Amino acid sequence: MATYEELKSRIEELEDTGYGKTLKEVNGIKKLTVGPTGVVDVEIYYSKPGTPEETKFKINLIKLVKVELGFPGIKVTFHQNEVINEGEKKIIYLGIASGKGGVGKSTVTANLAAALNRLGKKVGIMDADIYGASIPQILKVDIKPLSGTDDDMMIPLQGEGMEVISTEFFLPANKPVMWRGPMLGKMLSHYFGGVAWADGTEYVLIDLPPGTGDVALDINKFAKQTKMLIVTTPHVNAAHVAVKAGLGAQQIGHQVIGVVENMSYFLNPCNNKREYIFGKDGGLQVADQLGVDLLAQLPIGQPVENYIYKSNEPAGLIYDQLASKVIDLLED
Ligand SMILES: Nc1ncnc2c1ncn2[C@@H]1O[C@H](COP(=O)(O)OP(=O)(O)O)[C@@H](O)[C@H]1O
Ligand SMILES: [Mg+2]
Repeated sequence: MATYEELKSRIEELEDTGYGKTLKEVNGIKKLTVGPTGVVDVEIYYSKPGTPEETKFKINLIKLVKVELGFPGIKVTFHQNEVINEGEKKIIYLGIASGKGGVGKSTVTANLAAALNRLGKKVGIMDADIYGASIPQILKVDIKPLSGTDDDMMIPLQGEGMEVISTEFFLPANKPVMWRGPMLGKMLSHYFGGVAWADGTEYVLIDLPPGTGDVALDINKFAKQTKMLIVTTPHVNAAHVAVKAGLGAQQIGHQVIGVVENMSYFLNPCNNKREYIFGKDGGLQVADQLGVDLLAQLPIGQPVENYIYKSNEPAGLIYDQLASKVIDLLED
């Protein structure tokens, strides 16, 4: 059996092919211990968790430790490495969460992405709502089989000039699939480790499934730096669950950048007065309880054309203002 020093230096020589650099160069060993019976326990930061490359890496690692270095056993755990090559700007991930479904999470995700795009930001969208993927419909994505890069990364499809990856692309058309909670983690590992976003992508917005702490925990496994935006309606019941979703995210260390209140009021065209159909103040309550700002209040009403509000519509203008606040908050 080799010494600990030899074990460590040999593992450090292995290459993380996602970066084309050794584990030593990317600081890829999180933990390395040898138990009393000689079993090696190693935790590794890897560029592409959940991909075939990770499997190859793991096989080489096991061969090295057991066959070449003579250790009786090995336990390997992978974590997402968020180190990046020099000169490459890191993608900022923003999760859109709500607790409850039906409050406008997907609408806000798509419209915020479009507004960021209008302000010149290169944005990708990860549709992770395994229960009801709706981003492809909202952005009118022409769904076709995905192609891959030479190193087996999925190339996203396009909708309204933005890149989209969605659970919808992997399901048979019009057939409900019985996804369950544990599937979310599996899918996120493919999304975080296996998608080739276009060069220069600055933000990836994630349309999360409804849920509270469980969703945040899944995200945390793959991209600890993901920031969160909470969507609620003014109704107390939606606000109540949105607070839980926000607190869950904060408890495990995600920064909540703010709250968006959707369906806040209906602007009555007869007298130009705001009518608070779903109640009032839900957004403020959520913001107060999470200690963040209420960033926008969006009226009830459909876009003039298709599903994205334009800058010359009142809601489109509010989305532009929201996008500019979000840029400030994300680049802090
Ligand atoms: N501000 C709004 N005014 C009118 N309808 C809206 C508004 N926001 C969302 N909707 C509609 O409400 C429904 C639910 O919105 P959606 O974005 O799918 O919610 P979620 O993703 O939270 O389930 C959709 O039919 C959507 O078009
Ligand atoms: Mg949705």
